[in-house]
Amino acid sequence: MIEQPRVNVSISVLGTDFTELGYALERIRLSGADSVHLDIMDGRFVPNISFGSSIASDIVRASGLPCCAHLMVQHPEDAFDAFVGAGVAELLFHVEATRFPFRALQLLKGAGIRRGVAVNPATQVESVVPFLDNVDTVLLMSVEPGFGGQSFFPGTLAKVRALRSAADRAGTPLRIAVDGGVDASNSAALRDAGADELVAGTAFFRAADPAAFVRLLKGA
Ligand code: DX5
Ligand code: ZN
Repeated sequence: MIEQPRVNVSISVLGTDFTELGYALERIRLSGADSVHLDIMDGRFVPNISFGSSIASDIVRASGLPCCAHLMVQHPEDAFDAFVGAGVAELLFHVEATRFPFRALQLLKGAGIRRGVAVNPATQVESVVPFLDNVDTVLLMSVEPGFGGQSFFPGTLAKVRALRSAADRAGTPLRIAVDGGVDASNSAALRDAGADELVAGTAFFRAADPAAFVRLLKGA
């Protein structure tokens, strides 16, 4: 039997009821998910405002899991110190949000966390090939950033395959994460395409059995 690829699962708290954030974090922890995905939005790079580094710090402290900050903010370099200081384990910024992505990645080098870039659906995979030696993770957006609960962009599968091929050609151990509209209907195809991590929000909090949902996304 061909071994199904295993992936990590990260759960976004964006769509949860923030008056019950502690309960949401407990559900995530009990589900067997690997990490918490923090969607940071500034109302400028995306037409929505979510939360900042102080709430991120609270989530890091309360979650008991590694947390990844997905910065959907203009000039993300200005926010690096605050989110590294919040204790995140990974920080991802959008290549579309800065004119100097190499310099931004250099700023994160030595911060002792995983670093990487996020890429909108319309941005070509080729745009991140020059950074493959400077990132731990590339986050491929399968929705337009800014909101949870959107429909998965099917063209993402080809982007995962293209990025996996590019990383293999470059000989880099790249982590490919996919974010937006991920659910039971597309997770197997994403694993087969070469994704290493799946980010889910809405589908997780709608699941009757969160642990079963996470196992299904993992391919367990
Ligand atoms: C969208 C965010 C995603 C989103 C995931 O801008 O980056 O992380 O919240 O949530 P769902 O799974 O609901 O698409
Ligand atoms: Zn996200």
